[in-house]
Amino acid sequence: MKKNKLVVTQSLWRDNFQEKPCFSLNEDAETDVCIVGGGIAGLSIAYQLVLAGKKVIVLERRKVGDGETGNTSAHLSYALDDRFYEIEKMHGKDKAKLAAQSHKEAIDWIEQVIQTEQIDCEFKRIPGLLFTLDSNKTELNKEYGAAHRVGIKVEFLKEKELGKSLVFHNQARFHPKKYLRGLAEAILRLGGNIYEQSAVMKIDHSKNEVILENNKKVKASYIVTATNAQMFSGLSMHFKIEPNRSYVVGLKIPKNSIKDALYWDTADPYHYVRIEEYDEASDILIVGGEDHRVGLSPKGNPFLRLQAWAKSCFPIANAEIVYQWSGQILEPVDYMAYIGRNPKNDKAFMVTGDSGNGLTHGTIAGMLISDLILTGHNQYEALYKVNRLPIRAIKSLLANACSSIIGYIKYLIPQWSKMPSIGEAKVIQAGFKKVAVYRDENNRLIKCSAICNHMGAILSWNPIEKTWDCPAHGSRFDCDGSVINGPASKKLQCPSASSKTIA
Ligand SMILES: Cc1cc2nc3c(=O)[nH]c(=O)nc-3n(C[C@H](O)[C@H](O)[C@H](O)COP(=O)(O)OP(=O)(O)OC[C@H]3O[C@@H](n4cnc5c(N)ncnc54)[C@H](O)[C@@H]3O)c2cc1C
Ligand code: FES
Repeated sequence: MKKNKLVVTQSLWRDNFQEKPCFSLNEDAETDVCIVGGGIAGLSIAYQLVLAGKKVIVLERRKVGDGETGNTSAHLSYALDDRFYEIEKMHGKDKAKLAAQSHKEAIDWIEQVIQTEQIDCEFKRIPGLLFTLDSNKTELNKEYGAAHRVGIKVEFLKEKELGKSLVFHNQARFHPKKYLRGLAEAILRLGGNIYEQSAVMKIDHSKNEVILENNKKVKASYIVTATNAQMFSGLSMHFKIEPNRSYVVGLKIPKNSIKDALYWDTADPYHYVRIEEYDEASDILIVGGEDHRVGLSPKGNPFLRLQAWAKSCFPIANAEIVYQWSGQILEPVDYMAYIGRNPKNDKAFMVTGDSGNGLTHGTIAGMLISDLILTGHNQYEALYKVNRLPIRAIKSLLANACSSIIGYIKYLIPQWSKMPSIGEAKVIQAGFKKVAVYRDENNRLIKCSAICNHMGAILSWNPIEKTWDCPAHGSRFDCDGSVINGPASKKLQCPSASSKTIA
């Protein structure tokens, strides 16, 4: 079915995926709703709105699904990563109940759309197992109690293969790129427009205009930013969200050798595991984890650490890595995503802060934001409100602010003066300037400003993805300075690449 080929870092979902030709926006346009971002959030919102008869334009910088939706591990789960007993402590029992209900509804919504639109995307209902290998079972016991209080039936598994396990029934898995392609086709069929390779540089709320990189403009009654990391929001949003990187490997295992379920352990950082069918003889065990703040170095080689961990839990997973990739997770300090009205403008909406459950949070955005545009309210509005103050998360808020400072402290640290070797990169001091220098495999030096153009922090080299990452708020740039992840929206200043060999 799929080619067995290890690409440096590429998700399983992108391998052998047949992309459709793309169309970019090359003229000014006018519409009811303009949505920036073609991931699961943007397309779910667009789908609901075109169904209701609205004129919709989606603008996507790359290809649909090429953001974090293409980097996911694709667990569809209402067993939230942050645990219901923590959410209950932070938001109270009623809101924790609403959180559980909204994620459950999101999975039902995805299933319904797949049936209605006949999307072939390997959707399957399976159980989810939260397990602990520690002797301390307190966390599982606490989650058992909280899950019951928020209206979710869970039970302890009788078999003890993975230590003690709590079972959440009726979770699901799917192929995210195939799902998004189906959703995109439905949107187009229902009269919506999706433009790819159409990066947005600015939103002028006073004129209700979205301005593209090629200077074309879209005038819209409503503007939604579904860009994952928010490019067009104020500073306060960045304090409320911690940007993390998470790593994933795909291990080839004999078919049906591990029960088809979603698995999560209680370690910190935790591991997440699921199965994907591969060919007639094998499955892929998708194992994720090793999360750390963007811009800091991982412990050792995260892919090898994941492989070793998988082998210790699932002895059959003593197997070769056939896929390896990483992606960005945005952790709100109070656990719930920010979905709803932009506080500065009641015709503007946003979704950000996926909290590791971004496929369901993105789908909730589809239900919530479309309701706010169509009817003015939705039962989840208060829970996900963008300008809520996470008072009870004050410690995490301060910790996040302190971690952001790392990118600025580097101003005080003298940088390397020696140029990097082939395949390496360094921040070099050039007079008063700090320059990000990468020497590629052809011995070409690629130089850019080492100062993040979002808010001026100093970038760090990510040797696994070969990118420049910002520890302040999580922006990421390719080695040629192009933006990969916001909040930065512009390319770094880079003089052209030089082929000079400098010792
Ligand atoms: C390793 C990993 C594992 C994960 N596992 C799970 C999981 O098992 N379950 C789960 O629920 N969630 C998981 N998540 C989270 C989830 O995948 C994401 O939160 C979700 O896919 C984000 O969807 P989105 O639509 O908000 O963002 P994206 O998919 O990133 O879409 C945003 C889009 O906006 C575009 N864009 C950005 N800026 C601009 C601009 N200026 N102009 C035009 N377009 C722009 C981007 O190109 C991108 O395509 C995981 C994430 C990672 C990284
Ligand atoms: S992402 Fe904000 S300064 Fe870099």
